[in-house]
Parts: sequence; structure tokens; C-alpha cells
Amino acid sequence: MYKIVKKEVLVPNTVYLKAEAPEIARKAEPGQFVILRVDEVGERFPLSLAGWDKKAGTLEVLFLIMGRSTMKLSALGEGDCIRDIVGPLGRPTEIESYGDTLCVCSTFGVGPMIPLIKALKKKGNKVTSVMEAKDEAFLFWEDRLKSVSDETHVVLGDGSRGEYRRASEFLTKHLKSGNKVDRVFAFGRVFMMMECSQATKPFGVKTIVGLTPIMVDGTGMCGCCRVSVGGETKFTCVDGPEFDGHSVDWGLLVKRKRAYLREEALAFDLWQLDKLRRIAELSELPGRVSVV
Ligand SMILES: Cc1cc2nc3c(=O)[nH]c(=O)nc-3n(C[C@H](O)[C@H](O)[C@H](O)COP(=O)(O)OP(=O)(O)OC[C@H]3O[C@@H](n4cnc5c(N)ncnc54)[C@H](O)[C@@H]3O)c2cc1C
Ligand code: FES
Repeated sequence: MYKIVKKEVLVPNTVYLKAEAPEIARKAEPGQFVILRVDEVGERFPLSLAGWDKKAGTLEVLFLIMGRSTMKLSALGEGDCIRDIVGPLGRPTEIESYGDTLCVCSTFGVGPMIPLIKALKKKGNKVTSVMEAKDEAFLFWEDRLKSVSDETHVVLGDGSRGEYRRASEFLTKHLKSGNKVDRVFAFGRVFMMMECSQATKPFGVKTIVGLTPIMVDGTGMCGCCRVSVGGETKFTCVDGPEFDGHSVDWGLLVKRKRAYLREEALAFDLWQLDKLRRIAELSELPGRVSVV
């Protein structure tokens, strides 16, 4: 059992959690992730490490409420416990002295980007960060990103902050203007990572992306997280999660991520129905009623 010590709803669909997990925190490195199970009947699902404190024995995650599992996790509060957390999993990010780096993030990608930027800075890199969000209402942690980066740019989908609506447009203009970029990292929405990879390819700037296929065991046994990179089959949980964005078969990734949409929607609806039934049952009981 892993106790939640801090919870914050950052924007309407995104939640931050800090939990006690000393064994995982002790070994965590940038680029790694954990697999959680909210309760004993919950499915296993992965979340990137958004931070950790080796001394305090805590880890941090940031998640977008997508369906049943993330909704269940968002229903837990400070003092509640997560049933299982396994990790750290995946290969840590390769961090070297590249020179000028550009770190692009959207939605939950801001989480894993913060420890990565800190590590890049430690290696003497210059970090320009670019944060993409739908609009101001979905923007969070701009201050945190600013506090660790040399330069920060915000790109909003409604065009309300400057000339760009997508991070990839910023990248294209930045590179066309002759700015030196030695490495790009992109974490977050699949389409954002794909567009950024397409934007940097003509300029030959290596672009590392954090892939998020469906995972089950997270140990290379089930084959569920299979992706194609440079024509080779890779298992994201053990060979990744980071790959060269110029070589990823994005079409296959999107197709595989959407493979169980019908079942996922059904699972969510059934869980909602079950909750309603429990509310009805509990409201029949005398005394104080609390619904989990
Ligand atoms: C290495 C890795 C790191 C990730 N890090 C984060 C993170 O830091 N924050 C965050 O919000 N999300 C992250 N994700 C995605 C997250 O795991 C899914 O959003 C979550 O599992 C959705 O589950 P659900 O039941 O709430 O939604 P569902 O309704 O079940 O699914 C919604 C969509 O989420 C994806 N998904 C569903 N089940 C899984 C699964 N077991 N594994 C992976 N994707 C799944 C599918 O594309 C699906 O269409 C990460 C995924 C991977 C592979
Ligand atoms: S999640 Fe099963 S092989 Fe990667």
C-alpha cells in the first residue's frame, strides 16, 4: 500500500499526486515510469515519474483523467492508499552534454520534463523549454518550467499567446531562423510528439520522444506495448519509453492505442453505473453516508 501525502487538481482534467514509495524513489531516474493498480480489482496502468525525493522516500506523478483507472485514481485523496506501485520501470533518459537543447511538453508531459531539464542543466546544457496547451484554462506549472529552464515559451492552441498555435510551428520557425539546436526532447500528447518530430526531421535535429502505448505487465513479457521504430519491433516498457521520433511508426502507435476504445468506454460506463448503484444502496442506510 502506498500512502498519498499530497494531492492537487492542477486544471480540470489533470491531477498531481505525491505518494510514499521509498524503494522506488531511491532508484528513480529521469525518463522512468511506474505501473499502478488503484485497488485489488484495478487494471495495471503506467504513469511517468514527475519527481521524487530520495530522502523523504516520496514520488510524484501527474495524470490526465482519461477513463476508468485514472478517474478511480483521481477519486483518492490525501491519506488514502494506492494498492500497488511497481517501478521504476523503463530505461532512464540518455543525458549527455549536448549543448543547446529544446524541451517540448504538453499536458502530463510537463511532469517528466521537469526532472529531465534539471538533469540536462546539471550536465551543462542550455535548455529552452516550450509548453503547449489548449488555452489558459489548461495551462499549469509554467512557473516551475521557468524556474528550471534558461528560456521558456508558451504556445496556446487558441492563439492567445503570440503567433503560434502548436509547438511544432514554434520549432519550425526557430530552426528556420538559424537557431542552434543540438537535441530536442518531446513528452506529452502523441500528436504533439509526432508533429515535433516531423518539424525537426528536415533539419536533422535528433528528437527524442516518450511513447505511451497501452501497457500491461511492463516487463517485456506480454508484448502489448509493441511499437515499430526504424522498421524494428520494440517493446516500449523495456526498450523505451524513449525513442528517436524520426524513426517511430506513428500510424501504428495511434492505431494500437485506439484498439480497445469500445471496451474502455464500456468499462468506464459500468464503473459509473456501479457507483450510482452504491450511492442508491448507501442512501438506504441509516446514519452518515460516505461514497468512495
Ligand atoms: C510509459 C508511459 C507513461 C505514461 N505516463 C503518463 C503520465 O505521466 N500521465 C498520464 O496522464 N498518462 C500517462 N500515460 C498514459 C496512461 O497510462 C493512460 O492514459 C491510462 O492508462 C488511461 O487509463 P484509463 O483507464 O483512465 O483510460 P481508458 O479509458 O482505459 O483509456 C484511455 C486511453 O488511454 C490509453 N490507455 C488505456 N489503458 C492503458 C494502459 N494500460 N497503458 C497505457 N495506456 C493506456 C489508451 O490509449 C486509451 O485509449 C503513460 C503511458 C505510458 C505507456
Ligand atoms: S507492457 Fe508487456 S511487453 Fe511491455
